[in-house]
Amino acid sequence: MLAGAYARAALLLALGFFALAAVASGQEWLRAHATFYGGPDASGTMGGACGYGNLYAQGYGTRTAALSTALFNDGASCGQCYKLVCDRKTDRTWCKPGVSVTVTATNFCPPNWSIPSDRGGWCNPPRPHFDMAQPAWEKIGIYRGGIIPVIYRRVSCAKKGGLRFAVNGHDYFNLVLVTNVAGPGSVRAMDVKGSRSPDWMHMARNWGANWHSLTYLNGQGLSFRVTATDGQTIVCANVVPPNWSFGQSFASNLQFKL
Ligand SMILES: *[C@@H]1O[C@H](CO)[C@@H](O)[C@H](O)[C@H]1NC(C)=O
Ligand SMILES: *[C@@H]1O[C@H](CO)[C@@H](O)[C@H](O)[C@H]1NC(C)=O
Repeated sequence: MLAGAYARAALLLALGFFALAAVASGQEWLRAHATFYGGPDASGTMGGACGYGNLYAQGYGTRTAALSTALFNDGASCGQCYKLVCDRKTDRTWCKPGVSVTVTATNFCPPNWSIPSDRGGWCNPPRPHFDMAQPAWEKIGIYRGGIIPVIYRRVSCAKKGGLRFAVNGHDYFNLVLVTNVAGPGSVRAMDVKGSRSPDWMHMARNWGANWHSLTYLNGQGLSFRVTATDGQTIVCANVVPPNWSFGQSFASNLQFKL
């Protein structure tokens, strides 16, 4: 029985190692399709299910996409970066040759079960699908095509500056939006510590890239401990000064490695 437990532990270790190796070496290319939304200036892509709000102001610009259920992972994929190439072997008509585009996941593309999955219900499970901001899509596809086959893989996110935190909510409900996440782009876990508390307190994903704590933190400086999906952890000590108020944003100078 002990031998069995060791074997299982060894197998888990091995699986963990291969998963890490896959991320470290950049992931394999996979197939999906891509459509576009939000208009030629991408104004219709603002907001979105990750909660980033104004994508121009937050630095995401027009290189963004809404992910289908299969890729969105209930918001856990928010902030991840994907490199996409139009699959010219499958579609020579609407693919632009020799180009790629990298987008950040900022939104969710919901299923619509009143449309067949292969005739417009592109985001219906289990389809992997990118509904891209129009300017990003037009880098690799020809407008009249409307939908293109793509190959994609996750890539490291390049960002200028450090992690940013927007503190929203109200007393006993701190809703903290994390943006400008480099490297893996997505956050797996987050904790908060008030300057008058010795302990870290767990935060829960509320929606998209918003994490909440039900603790009363008014009037305290705040530190955040952020763990990215690849396991890197950063402690942004006292990134929020004690005189903070709801609705303000704060920048750290710390950032995840690519
Ligand atoms: C689903 O598709 C139908 C048919 O195109 C459309 O009328 C309806 O508004 C869509 N529903 C949603 C929630 O988008
Ligand atoms: C809050 O405190 C910081 C210094 O920690 C100061 O620079 C800032 O002006 C203060 N803000 C307000 C609104 O008092």
